[in-house]
Parts: sequence; structure tokens; C-alpha cells
Amino acid sequence: MHKAITTKQFLTNKEYFHLIGRPAQQTWADFMCWEYFFHEAEFKQFIELGSGNGTMSSYYSIMSERIGFEFKTFDIKIPKYFEGPQFYAMDVFMSKDIVADQFNHPMCLFCDDGDKPREIKTFLPYLQHGDYMVIHDYGREVSLKSVPKTVNDCNVVPYMLPLVEELGSTLRFFHIINKKI
Ligand SMILES: C[S@@+](CC[C@H](N)C(=O)[O-])C[C@H]1O[C@@H](n2cnc3c(N)ncnc32)[C@H](O)[C@@H]1O
Repeated sequence: MHKAITTKQFLTNKEYFHLIGRPAQQTWADFMCWEYFFHEAEFKQFIELGSGNGTMSSYYSIMSERIGFEFKTFDIKIPKYFEGPQFYAMDVFMSKDIVADQFNHPMCLFCDDGDKPREIKTFLPYLQHGDYMVIHDYGREVSLKSVPKTVNDCNVVPYMLPLVEELGSTLRFFHIINKKI
């Protein structure tokens, strides 16, 4: 039976977000941010650290074909709903050099495995001017304290922040920009 819910609850609660008939691990607010981001930002490669159940990996895979970027996703567990060759089974911390060797700039790195602060600390130093970093579960598993303001002579600049905050998404987008530009 239909349960009365507010628009905000619908947009921000994971239990209401199903995509193409499958349960997903984000929210409608997050999904709207991704749609906007993929049409605004320009990069050659999208890397997902933490495939989860793979529903969102399917979405990123479709977007990679439609928009034209390379997509790779990494997890220690096989995702239930994603079977593509873009999936790599590995511990991203144990195999950090193998993961970083795959990076193809300008790129977007999506940090969404079990330890976001550690992911940021481990992989942000591999990013350079023109790259993007996106983190999930902001305010729950990770805060701005974990995001350095600079890396490799670049500023780590919040991207789309008003939209993301207004929608109530727990994604946070950052653009890596050379300080001198
Ligand atoms: C929250 S889920 C990812 C959700 C997915 N990105 C999405 O948006 O639907 C977190 C995933 O990180 C994976 N994970 C945890 N630690 C990991 C590690 N050290 N290396 C690779 N994957 C890891 C878990 O197996 C889990 O599937």
C-alpha cells in the first residue's frame, strides 16, 4: 500500500531509489546530481571505487557509451547486478598501484568503498589538473576534514555545491584546478 511520504524523503532516502527495476545504493537526489554532472563535466574516464550491488555501475556503463568516456569499476566482491568487462575484482588498497596505473586523465574518480577518508588519502595524490573527484555518504562516513584543499599544486574546488546541497544529496563533487590558472 502507498505510504505517504514527503518529496524530501523520496529524494533523500535510499529505500525509495530503484533504477531500471533494481535496488540501488544511492538516492534520487544523488541520481539527479549524476545526470547533471555527466552533461556538464568533461573527462575521458570514470573510475568507481566500490561497485556495490552494481546497479549504479550499470548506469555508469550506459552513460559511458552514450556520452563517450571510459568506465572501470573496482570491488572486492562480485556485484550482483553488473557483469561487464569494466569490473575488476580487487582490494583497492592492497592493489593501489594497479588501480592507479589504470588512470587516464582527465578523469573522474568516484570514492565509494568501505573507507572514504582512506580512499581520498590514497588516491587523491594521483589526480591532476582537470580531474574530478566525487565522494559519497558525505556527512555520514566522510566530512570536509578528509578532503585536502590542495593537491599536486592544484586547488581541490567544490563543484555543483549549491545544487547538491539543495537536493539533499550526500554526494560531494570536486574539481582539481591548477592554482595558477
Ligand atoms: C557502498 S558500496 C558501493 C556502492 C556503489 N558505488 C553504488 O553507488 O551503488 C561499497 C562497496 O565497497 C566495497 N569495498 C569495501 N572495501 C573495499 C576495498 N578495500 N577494495 C575494494 N572494494 C571495497 C564493498 O565490497 C562494497 O561493495
